Amino acid sequence: MNIADSIVIITGASAGLGLECARQLCSAGATVYGLARRKERLQDAAEELGSRFKPVACDVTNEQSVRDAFATVLNDSGRIDVLINNAGLGSFGPVDELSIDAWNTMMDTNLRGVFLATRAVVPAMKKQNETSGFGGHIVNIASVAGLLGNPSISAYNATKFGVRGFSDAMMKELRGDGIKVTCVYPGSIETEFFEVAGVDISPNPMTAKDVASTILHVIGTGDNYLVSEVVMRPLRPRG
Ligand SMILES: NC(=O)c1ccc[n+]([C@@H]2O[C@H](COP(=O)([O-])OP(=O)(O)OC[C@H]3O[C@@H](n4cnc5c(N)ncnc54)[C@H](OP(=O)(O)O)[C@@H]3O)[C@@H](O)[C@H]2O)c1
Repeated sequence: MNIADSIVIITGASAGLGLECARQLCSAGATVYGLARRKERLQDAAEELGSRFKPVACDVTNEQSVRDAFATVLNDSGRIDVLINNAGLGSFGPVDELSIDAWNTMMDTNLRGVFLATRAVVPAMKKQNETSGFGGHIVNIASVAGLLGNPSISAYNATKFGVRGFSDAMMKELRGDGIKVTCVYPGSIETEFFEVAGVDISPNPMTAKDVASTILHVIGTGDNYLVSEVVMRPLRPRG
């Protein structure tokens, strides 16, 4: 797909990887609708990125909020070429110390949020396929925690393994409708994720810039070429 002049929605565009994807997509000529809860952070992004970045307040855990946000985008743009399901967070600890609220928040954001945004965009993408022969592209941001379990991150593991299963099913279900589904599995990235999780960042993380550039590469591939999964890791995780 040609990124220039494409219409992209990114959930969790107020910070970190989502913001960096927005930055790179805007400079490649896309129009990016950036969804997140913090309006002031979205406004900062709009000031930095200019008129190609359109802030849209949205809480992906809230069904009505997701429905409203996607209706706003479709009204404004008439189509959606790419959805990047990126909004997510972690909360870690031994299973017997993990609160039920923390479990619910991670499930609602990282997994249910991906489902809500996907079901909001698929009808428009199916129509686009009928009219233009190409539906669009959904990119889900999982994590290496969606491939490997580890002590004290069980709930986060469960959400990201869930994103993996959902993505694999969506890839097979939607390819016939001309809709690509790609699931990406990054290792540690230097973002605010670790501050939000209240844990130390790993010693030698990847940059959001590197991860975002791979996502753009995948989005920019030819229409009959589907990259369904990508794993990214720092070369020397311990530095
Ligand atoms: N950093 C890493 O090491 C790493 C590694 C692998 C995968 N990932 C995944 O990469 C994705 C992006 O994380 P990041 O590292 O960029 O973290 P980040 O800097 O903390 O950014 C997280 C983004 O998610 C948004 N978000 C959180 N809850 C939301 C909600 N209910 N509704 C809408 N937006 C919400 C935040 O916006 P608001 O707070 O403004 O709503 C923010 O824009 C996540 O899915 C994460 O699991 C991260």
